[in-house]
Amino acid sequence: MIPLTIRHAVPDDYADWRVMWDFYCAFYETTIPEDVTQQSWARICDPVSPVKALMARHTVGGEALGMCNYILHDNTWTLGPVCYLEDLFTHRASRGQGVGKALVDELLRLGRAHGWARLYWMTRNNNTTARRLYDQYTSADDFVRYMVRL
Ligand SMILES: CC(C)(COP(=O)(O)OP(=O)(O)OC[C@H]1O[C@@H](n2cnc3c(N)ncnc32)[C@H](O)[C@@H]1OP(=O)(O)O)[C@@H](O)C(=O)NCCC(=O)NCCS
Repeated sequence: MIPLTIRHAVPDDYADWRVMWDFYCAFYETTIPEDVTQQSWARICDPVSPVKALMARHTVGGEALGMCNYILHDNTWTLGPVCYLEDLFTHRASRGQGVGKALVDELLRLGRAHGWARLYWMTRNNNTTARRLYDQYTSADDFVRYMVRL
């Protein structure tokens, strides 16, 4: 296992976060407009924003190995907020060594510590690599996503 340090992103993390964000968008074969990326990063760095990111770094060398972006929001079915894990990415060279799991575990730890009611996320049905990780936490439910682009 790689010795990992996981903490919330700060402005100095931008270069490393951005590299991973770009790889993540490429993985999804999408191009997010630059102003949207800049807005997301500004929100991540804004302590009052519900948009947040975790960075996973090698404890010894400090190399960035993974990141996740998440959003805390109110929910009509629960007293506490719920957490939507929106983006999870680990660098190819460090995959299969527990970095992704450590990021999800840290979200669960934060959620238990701060009274979040749920952590949830989505992935493509055929993302078997990610689902091998996710299936360790819970089973996928049978909800189907509908989306209208505006
Ligand atoms: C999905 C992703 C985040 C997983 O990150 P990771 O750091 O490789 O995950 P982990 O090393 O913590 O793997 C955890 C589990 O997943 C499985 N797994 C992940 N990668 C694997 C691999 N290459 N070979 C075998 N099993 C693998 C294993 O079951 C592992 O469980 P273990 O702890 O019992 O070995 C990473 O592959 C990634 O960034 N993929 C591209 C982007 C993506 O798909 N993001 C998720 C979209 S929602």
